[in-house]
Amino acid sequence: SAATVYEAENATIFHGTVDTDHLGYTGTGFVNTANEAGAYVEFAVDAPAAGAATLALRYSNGTAATRPSGVGVNGTTVSTPAFAPTTDWNTWAVSRIPVTLKAGGNLVRVTATTAGGLPDLDSLTV
Ligand code: GCU
Repeated sequence: SAATVYEAENATIFHGTVDTDHLGYTGTGFVNTANEAGAYVEFAVDAPAAGAATLALRYSNGTAATRPSGVGVNGTTVSTPAFAPTTDWNTWAVSRIPVTLKAGGNLVRVTATTAGGLPDLDSLTV
């Protein structure tokens, strides 16, 4: 089925801000989570049917260090992707995370697991 784009700035943000001070984001901004473990962005993802899906997270990481995370679906951590550096904060990359969704509403939460926080998050395409 057709992909749906969920902008991070429209998601639920725990400890972070919607910023516009870098180039190349889609929508009206991107989410800059606090540099701390536990900061998260949670997307309400609608799935037409239960089954396998791919989460395509568009992010930027202008540091030299990978930023680890935990990805939860409906309250269970199902993946621990680490977001590699992207050269600078104006450069965006896409990380693809395979998950299983249930039919209807799903809560997809991306949580920082180290003190650096998450990369800047632009969108989630499912
Ligand atoms: C810089 C950058 C932010 C980013 C932050 C970080 O301040 O401008 O967009 O979120 O670094 O380290 O996470």
